[in-house]
Amino acid sequence: RTECGVQYSTQDQVATCPIPSPPRWPAVLQLPPAESRAVGTASQPLDGLPGPACWDTRSCPAAFLVTGGNRSLAQSLSGQLFPALTSPLNFSDYLHTLSKIVPGSEAPASFRQFLEPSFTPGNTLYIVQPRCRSNFSQTVSVNAGPKPLKLNVDCIQGLSLWRESASVINDELFKGYRQQRESGGGKANEFAAGYDFLSTNTDSLDISIWFNSTYNNNTGVFEMALLRVPRLVNMVSDAYIKFLRGSGAEMLLEYVKDMPKVGSELKLDLSSLLGALFFTWIIELLFPVILTYLVYEKQQKLKIMMKMHGLKAGPYWMITYTYFFALSALYMILFVTFGSLIGLGFFTTNDYSIQIVFYFIYINLQIALAFFAASFLYSVKIATVVGYIYVFGSGLLGAFLLRFFIQDNSFPNGWIVVMEIIPGFSLYRGLYELGQYAFTGTAMGTDGMTWSSLSDPVNGMRTVLIIMVVEWAILLPLAFYLDQVSLLGGGLRKRLLILLKCFKKRAASFRMYSFGRLGSKVIVEMENPDATQEREAVEQLLLEPNANYAIICDNLKKVYHGRDGNPDKLAVRGLSLALPKGQCFGMLGPNGAGKTSFISMMIGLVPPTSGTAYVHGMDIRTDMNEIYTYMGVCPQHDLLWETLTGKEHLLFYGRLKNLKGAELLKATDDSLKSVNLFRGGVGDKQVGKYSGGMKRRLSVAISLIGDPKVVFMDEPSTGLDPASRNSLWSVVKEAKKNRAIILTSILFP
Ligand SMILES: *[C@@H]1O[C@H](CO)[C@@H](O)[C@H](O)[C@H]1NC(C)=O
Ligand SMILES: *[C@@H]1O[C@H](CO)[C@@H](O)[C@H](O)[C@H]1NC(C)=O
Ligand SMILES: *[C@@H]1O[C@H](CO)[C@@H](O)[C@H](O)[C@H]1NC(C)=O
Repeated sequence: RTECGVQYSTQDQVATCPIPSPPRWPAVLQLPPAESRAVGTASQPLDGLPGPACWDTRSCPAAFLVTGGNRSLAQSLSGQLFPALTSPLNFSDYLHTLSKIVPGSEAPASFRQFLEPSFTPGNTLYIVQPRCRSNFSQTVSVNAGPKPLKLNVDCIQGLSLWRESASVINDELFKGYRQQRESGGGKANEFAAGYDFLSTNTDSLDISIWFNSTYNNNTGVFEMALLRVPRLVNMVSDAYIKFLRGSGAEMLLEYVKDMPKVGSELKLDLSSLLGALFFTWIIELLFPVILTYLVYEKQQKLKIMMKMHGLKAGPYWMITYTYFFALSALYMILFVTFGSLIGLGFFTTNDYSIQIVFYFIYINLQIALAFFAASFLYSVKIATVVGYIYVFGSGLLGAFLLRFFIQDNSFPNGWIVVMEIIPGFSLYRGLYELGQYAFTGTAMGTDGMTWSSLSDPVNGMRTVLIIMVVEWAILLPLAFYLDQVSLLGGGLRKRLLILLKCFKKRAASFRMYSFGRLGSKVIVEMENPDATQEREAVEQLLLEPNANYAIICDNLKKVYHGRDGNPDKLAVRGLSLALPKGQCFGMLGPNGAGKTSFISMMIGLVPPTSGTAYVHGMDIRTDMNEIYTYMGVCPQHDLLWETLTGKEHLLFYGRLKNLKGAELLKATDDSLKSVNLFRGGVGDKQVGKYSGGMKRRLSVAISLIGDPKVVFMDEPSTGLDPASRNSLWSVVKEAKKNRAIILTSILFP
C-alpha cells in the first residue's frame, strides 16, 4: 500500500503525510526488560524481591515501590494497582479489554511514527497480574494498527513493595542503576515505577510518581518518542475509585493517541548539508586570483616601475583594494543571487542581512590576507601553488577536522576559536552555521539564522564575525607595512639605514670616473685630474647650492656584502658628479663596471653604502618619494604589462605624471612618433607581441613622458638595430634640452 497513512510497509510516509485522525492505542505501561528487572542479591538485599535466579527464566516481577502518609491506606491502594483477570482475554475489542487491566511492554517507544511499538510484530504484550498462572502465554490475532497482527501475549507479575519513606524509595530506585549487577554482564536493577501516596485520604487523592524518563529518549528533532506515563496515573486512579466505591467502580483509560498533524513536503535541503565545504571552495577561489595578480606585479617589477614614475603607495593600495573589493563583491552578489534563484534553502532561509554582513567582512579579510601573503611571495608560480593549496587544504581540513571538533561537545571551545584564526576555517565555520540553521529551518518550516540567533550558545557565527573583523584590522596595516619595507628599501628600513649611517664617514681619498672591472687588478687607484676637479666642484656646490644643477652626487659608494664566504664587492667607489640641466651624461664601461649599481642607487632601488646624491636639491636617502615625481626611468630590463598596448602604457604613465585630456593624448602620440611606434598602429598592439627592440623603444618613451626633470636610462640601446639606435640618439638629443639625462651604455653611440 502506497497511499498516505500509517502503514507498516512504508512507515516513512508518516513523516510527510497528513495524519488527520491518528490511530488509537491502549495505554501501555513501560516495563524494564526481563534481564534488567530489580532482584535482591547477597550484597544488595532488597526487601521483598526474589533472587537473581529469575533473570535466567525471564520471570522476574515488575516491582513498584510504594510509600505514603497512611500506611494501611497506601497498602490497600497498591494492592488494587493490577486488577486480576476475571474472564479470558477477548481481543476482538482490544481497546476496551485492555482498559480494564494493565498492559505493559518492554519495547522502547522511540521512532514510533504514530504506532505503538508493542503492537508491531515481534513484540510481546505483557499483562501485569498480582499472580501469574502457568500456561498464560498465548498468541492472539488483533486488528490493531494498519493490518491484522498476530500478537504474543504473556503474563508478568506485578509486585508492590512498601517502603518507609520517599528517600528510601529514591535510594533503592537508583541502587541498581548505580551498582551494576555483579554477576553476568552489567545490566541495571530497574524498577517499573515508584508511588508516594503523600497525604492521600478518603477525601483526596494526592500522589507523586517516579518513572524512568530515559525511555523518552528524545535526542533528535525527528524523534517522536512516547513516554508511557498515562497508564501509571490511571492505575492509581482506578485503585482509588475501587477503594472508595468497591470493585464495581472503574476508572477506565480507553486509549491514547498522537496529535493529528498536517502533511508536509519531505524537504531535505542538500545545499545546507554539503554546502559548507562546497561554498567554502567557491568563495575562496578568489584568493589565488588576487594573490597571483599581486605577485605578478611584484615579480615583473611593475610595482617598482610605477613607483618610480610617481605612483605613491597610498593610491596604489586604495585602487588595488577597491578593484579587488568590487570584483569580490560582484562575485558574491552573483553567488547569493544565483543560489537564491534556484531556491537553495541555504540562501533563502537565512536572514539576508546576516549573509551580506558575513560575506562583506569575509571578502575584506580575504583581500587583506592576499596582500599579506603577497608580501612573502616573489614568484607567480609559487603564489598559484600556495593559493590553491590554501583553498583546498583549508576547505578539506575544515570539513573533516574542524567540523568534528565543532560537533564534539567535549572539545574545548577555546581551541576552536584558535583554529578559526585561519581565515579559511572561520569562513567554513560561518558557512557551516548558516547551513545548520538552513537545514533545521527547512525541515521545521521555520526561519534560518536571524540576528537574534547570534546569541544562541551553540551558534559560532558571532565569534567568527568578531575574529574576522579583528583579523582584518590587523592584517591590512601589517601587509601595508611589510610591503613598504620590502619595496625599494623604503619606509622603516630606509629610516633605519639613515640612523646607522648618521656617522657618515667622509673618506675622500680617491674618486674615479673610469669604472674598472671589479675584483680585477686593472682598477686605476690614482686620482685622475678631472676627477679631482669634479670633486672640488661638487664640494663647492654643496656649500653654495645652485639651482642650475639637476644632479649632484657626493662621494657615492656601494659595497655588496659577500655571501657564502665570498669577499665583499665594491661596485661603486666614491663617485662625485655634478650635472647641470640640459646635459646628457653618458657612462661607458663593460658589464660589471658598476653602471647599473649607480643607476639603482639613483632611482632608489638600493640604498647607497655611503655618500649620497641630490636630485634638484632632494636627498636620495630621504626624499625619494618626492624625487619620483620629477624622474623618468628606463630600466635595463623592460618592465611592461604583456597584456596592455604600448599606447595604454604611455597613457597610464602620463596620467601618473599629471597629464590630462587632450594634453595627455598629444603627449602620447608625440611620444609614440618619436620612438617610431606610431605608424601602422603598432602603438595599439599588445606589448606581448612586440619585438625586443620595440619594447626597448617603448621603455625609453615611458621614461620621457610627462616632462620629467631628470631621466635615467640604463643601457637604452641594447638590442636595437643601427637605424633604431640612431633615431634613439636623436630622441635623446631632443629630450635633453630642458632636463638632465644620465644614460649608460657598453658602447659608444
Ligand atoms: C488511614 O486510613 C484509614 C482508611 O483506610 C483510616 O481509617 C485511618 O484513620 C487513617 N489513619 C490515619 C492515621 O489517618
Ligand atoms: C534511544 O535511541 C537510540 C537511537 O537514537 C536507540 O539506539 C536506543 O535504543 C534508544 N533507547 C531507548 C531506551 O529507547
Ligand atoms: C532508565 O532506563 C534506561 C533505558 O532503558 C536504563 O538504561 C536505565 O538504567 C534506567 N534507569 C533506572 C534508574 O532504572
